[in-house]
Amino acid sequence: MASENENEISGAPAHPRPPRPSTITIGNHKLKPSTLMMGYGFDPELSEGSLKPPIFLTSTFVFESAAAGKRFFEGVTGRRPGGAEGLIYSRFNGPNQEILEDRLSVWEEADDALAFSSGMSAIATLLLTFVRPGDVIVHTGPLYAATETLIAKILGQFGVSWLDFPSGASREEIDAVVASAKAKGRVALIYLESPANPTNQLVDVEAVRAARDAAFGESERPPIAIDNTFLGPLWAKPLAHGADLSVYSLTKYAGGHSDLVAGGLVGKQKLIDQVRTMRNTIGTICDPNTAWMLLRSLETLELRMSKAGENAAQVCAFLREHPKVEKVGYLGFLEDGSRQADIYRRHCTGAGSTFSLYLKGGEKEAFAFLDALQIAHLAVSLGGTETLASAPAAMTHLSVPDDRKALLGITPNLVRISIGVEDADDLIADFANALQAV
Ligand SMILES: Cc1ncc(COP(=O)(O)O)c(C=O)c1O
Repeated sequence: MASENENEISGAPAHPRPPRPSTITIGNHKLKPSTLMMGYGFDPELSEGSLKPPIFLTSTFVFESAAAGKRFFEGVTGRRPGGAEGLIYSRFNGPNQEILEDRLSVWEEADDALAFSSGMSAIATLLLTFVRPGDVIVHTGPLYAATETLIAKILGQFGVSWLDFPSGASREEIDAVVASAKAKGRVALIYLESPANPTNQLVDVEAVRAARDAAFGESERPPIAIDNTFLGPLWAKPLAHGADLSVYSLTKYAGGHSDLVAGGLVGKQKLIDQVRTMRNTIGTICDPNTAWMLLRSLETLELRMSKAGENAAQVCAFLREHPKVEKVGYLGFLEDGSRQADIYRRHCTGAGSTFSLYLKGGEKEAFAFLDALQIAHLAVSLGGTETLASAPAAMTHLSVPDDRKALLGITPNLVRISIGVEDADDLIADFANALQAV
């Protein structure tokens, strides 16, 4: 039917209404994240009834009027509180990334979330937001190698220093390091990684929070950020235990198919808004296609992680009893009554699917095992549908000095394994066969 105004296409208003709020409860029943991943934050009516969000490949967005454009800019630049009321430019945000951010927030019941082009760009943007020359960063050790490089070598060039405490540290040890850091300069950030890569040591987030709150007055408290890549968002939710921000390499379990690189940050509104301003400036947002792939991935996150976790429990039980195996560093095997077991009980709901296998012998035995695998792939990374195995001492941690490697237990006989969603018996057959080659 022809429109009264010949310049209008019937039924397609140029500037539709805002998206309808998604259903999050039915009566008193609160919907679970695995249900919300199917549709939360997306209103099909705004996209021709499309069940799935289209990929919005555009670099910029058309304003309804000059006044609307001004209002959006007032929001995005902070002149008006509450953030941008609409989309402006794709370095700032886009529909796919916004839906992704809404869904990322769901898992940890965070105020808000931000999507990034990689885990490292999320971490770099976070650090750049809070750290100034002369500041001190307190962090757990060890950290993912690139994070350590970023803090020590790159921020070090700008007069930033750091102090660390071991991942499994007690409240007293944390207090002592925080006190030394305070004596050194303004503490800008407390940065944690749990479990640590590759030692698998868990951080007591509640103790860190108590130490931070005891050492700093409310107005000077540094945010607590934590890398939750290994157990999040299913098996660990550190925001519930006192962290302010939880950062993710979405490349791993969230993406889950080893086919994308992305990062995420979830947490307190005020802090997320500060990081968003930095992200808008430097352009570390992920692209719409990657955001769309992540939406696809999040639909099966709980399924995939649960199956990988069950597989890992079976595989680890087999490996632990094998005569050629010295030790299996798996969170499901923490010693009853130990401090790590206590942290695990308070902070985690599952042992994950990434663990350390120490073979009897050295590099020769580790390589023989890796070269004989037929289902598991010899590759670095983790959290994908397929099982991966690698030798950290010879690969990811090759450049770490030998004495530090020894301190962290990164020995030549260590094989890191990330279990996928294959059949558990097939994986056990693969590992049994590879162990025969050792
Ligand atoms: C714990 C942890 N944090 C951060 C990263 C960096 O993530 P990305 O490779 O997505 O930049 C990784 C990557 O392996 C990681 O394992």
